Amino acid sequence: MLDYVAEHIKAGVSTEEINRWVHEVTTKMGGIPAPLNYEGFPKSVCTSLNNEVCHGIPSEDIILKDGDIINVDVSTNLNGYYSDSSRMFCIGEVSEDKKRLVSAAKQAVEEGLKAVKPWGFLGDMAQAVNDYVKSQGYSVVREVGGHGIGLEFHEDPWVSYVTEKGTEMLMVPGLCFTIEPMINMGRPEIYTDEENGWTIYTKDGTPSAQWEIQVLVTEDGCEVISY
Ligand code: MF3
Ligand code: CO
Repeated sequence: MLDYVAEHIKAGVSTEEINRWVHEVTTKMGGIPAPLNYEGFPKSVCTSLNNEVCHGIPSEDIILKDGDIINVDVSTNLNGYYSDSSRMFCIGEVSEDKKRLVSAAKQAVEEGLKAVKPWGFLGDMAQAVNDYVKSQGYSVVREVGGHGIGLEFHEDPWVSYVTEKGTEMLMVPGLCFTIEPMINMGRPEIYTDEENGWTIYTKDGTPSAQWEIQVLVTEDGCEVISY
């Protein structure tokens, strides 16, 4: 689904159009878009633009334009199992500042992934993410995190990316969870849209970026099962 989005996304496209692609293609492939009606979420995908941190709601009125960065977060139920992953897309000519933020957010996930080992701690992964993000001069959102995933969209554990090495849940073989830190160019503080109750923004108005992968811990390492 994300490959499809990557091939079609461009300036002039509305985020509602992205929602239509996700709904139609997912359904055609036999899947169910997981966001639709999830705790009342009104659409089949989250589209979060620029200073939106996550849970952006697709709309006919939001038209992508040159210089935008956008996160498209795709979650699917197929035959009873959930997948969840997201990518950033740069629309047209994007500023160097925003491009650097987008690649740092991607690298943050890679740094976290390197720390995923059976019988390690989730905090090992979190600290790897946070140390890297801080080294790039950015900040990690504290209040919104990742999650276990499998037979439910959001399962235990709740996954922070600001906790410390040697803390949090053990990564036992069989644990399946997401690495999806939200990276802000400025301060880590956020607020939620009062009107729609979903969309989260950076408090200082700076851009935010996020990539998400789904990882399965195995007996001798881990496997990325959705990206
Ligand atoms: N896909 C988001 C995640 O990564 C969750 C979105 S919940 C929704 O966990 F209802 F907004 F879809
Ligand atoms: Co997720």
